[in-house]
This record gives sequence, C-alpha cells and structure tokens, in this order.
Amino acid sequence: MLLHTIKEVRDQVKEWKKQGLTVGLVPTMGALHNGHLSLIKKAVEKCDKVVVSVFVNPIQFCPGEDLDKYPRTLEADEKLCNDTGVSIVFAPTPNEMYGNTPQRSNDFLTYVVPPFFYVNKLCGKSRVGHFDGVCTVVNKLFNIVQPDYAFFGQKDAQQLVIIKKMVKDLNIPVEIVPCPIVREASGLALSSRNKYLSEDDKIQALALNKILNNIKDCYKQGITDVKALKETAYNFLNEHHELEYLEFCDADNLEDVTTANDNTRVFIACRVGGVRLIDNILLGE
Ligand code: PAF
Repeated sequence: MLLHTIKEVRDQVKEWKKQGLTVGLVPTMGALHNGHLSLIKKAVEKCDKVVVSVFVNPIQFCPGEDLDKYPRTLEADEKLCNDTGVSIVFAPTPNEMYGNTPQRSNDFLTYVVPPFFYVNKLCGKSRVGHFDGVCTVVNKLFNIVQPDYAFFGQKDAQQLVIIKKMVKDLNIPVEIVPCPIVREASGLALSSRNKYLSEDDKIQALALNKILNNIKDCYKQGITDVKALKETAYNFLNEHHELEYLEFCDADNLEDVTTANDNTRVFIACRVGGVRLIDNILLGE
C-alpha cells in the first residue's frame, strides 16, 4: 500500500498495534537496490508488518550536493516492496514532512543535533549539518511509525552509530537492527549513488574495497600500528582517486584508534569520477 500522508500511516499503524502486531521500519531515500532489499527481507522476516519509507530528505543534503539529481524511482521501489511483503510504502512530500518551514535552517525548524564528538569526523567533517538532517528525519519517522524495530545498513556505519546514540540518549522505544553491507560480485559496496559511475569509474571504485581488505589481511598477519596500516592504501590509489579520508575508529563509539584491534572499524571515503563513495570494514570480523 502506497501512502503519502502522516495521518494515513498513523491510522494504519494504530490498527496493527491494537491487534498486537510488531512493526518494523526500513527508512530509505528510495532508488532501492539489493542492499535495501536485504534490509527489507530481514524486516519482513522479523516483524508482522513492515513500513518502508521512501523520502529524499532535503535537510540532510549540504549546499552543492546532489539533492536535485538524486535518483527517484518510486514506481520501481513500490513494486519491489510489494513483491517482498512490505505492508506500507510511505512516500511523503517534503511539504508533508516539513510544512512550509524554510529548510536547512534551524532558525525555523526543530532539529535533533547529535553530539559534536560523533559528527566532527569522517563524513561529518565534509558534510556539515548532514547528521543533524539525518537524525531529525529519522526521529520524525520514528514518531510517525512508532516501530518496534528499525533496520539500517552497516555501509553507513557512522550514521548507524549516531542513530544508536540518539535512540539511547533520547530513550526512543525502538530496537535498531544493523544489517551487513551488500556488495556486487566485484566487491563494490552497493549504493544508490553507484548509478552515477561509468563502467571505468566502477573499476576504479574497486580500490576502496581492495584497500580495506588489504588492511584487514595485514592486521590478521599481526600489523596493528595504524600508521603502518594506512600506508598500505597508497598501493591501490592512482590519479583517478581523490581520497577524502581513511580512518581507524572504535566501532562502537568512533574514538580514533592508533593501535588496531578486533573492534576497530576502518572507514574510507574517496571520490571516483567526481562521485563520492564510502565503505568500511570491521577488522575482527
Ligand atoms: O541512509 C539513508 O538512506 C538516509 O540517511 C536515511 C536513514 C533514510 C535518512 O534519510
């Protein structure tokens, strides 16, 4: 069932709750791919009813980012959801979510602002305000759907840590279910933004996964010094890559790590053909 208004979703969820059914939420920005599909399948397995939100959230895009050209494929998204056993596809307009408030301005909109420590690193450094926009919309979706479970991909590992922190700090009654990264056979992590990559870019993009796997291999061979591990990355980079960051952080609290351990997550962001790609790996997995 495709719904566009908050009221329709609330009314339907209220009925389910009356019947004692569990509700799962998979928040997405649409352009669904197999990565999303894995979250949706997990949700359908675990919950009686599943809501997938499809909303390209304007307030999480920074000025100059791809808000206008972000892929929008609602018809195909709805079909994939229907075929997978989703009960509601919630696709609100920006106006339904934010009214007429001037967006990207906390002069007029109440924001959920995650702690500086968690956002002033990795993607948050170049995408200033991005995680405010993410936490605000996810919090709104939690309030609208009131899910028992919400499903997020490990591909956006910083986002996942920040959302878990928000849920804990604000006592939001939802269980966050992390789901593993889904990759193409080549190793490329699935992302809606892969649509922007040419065939050549896709080959160059494999460097991200190769760097992470190589670091993990070196770690398994006993190298734990982060400086030494970082240096191994340069073997895989060439003029097609614009490395934004390669960082080693504690997987739970994002603290910087100088000596790697099993709970260290390695995060990478790199531009290929002008497209910003991210990936990560947990060393102990
Ligand atoms: O990960 C995403 O696709 C988005 O950041 C989310 C969680 C749907 C919020 O807009």
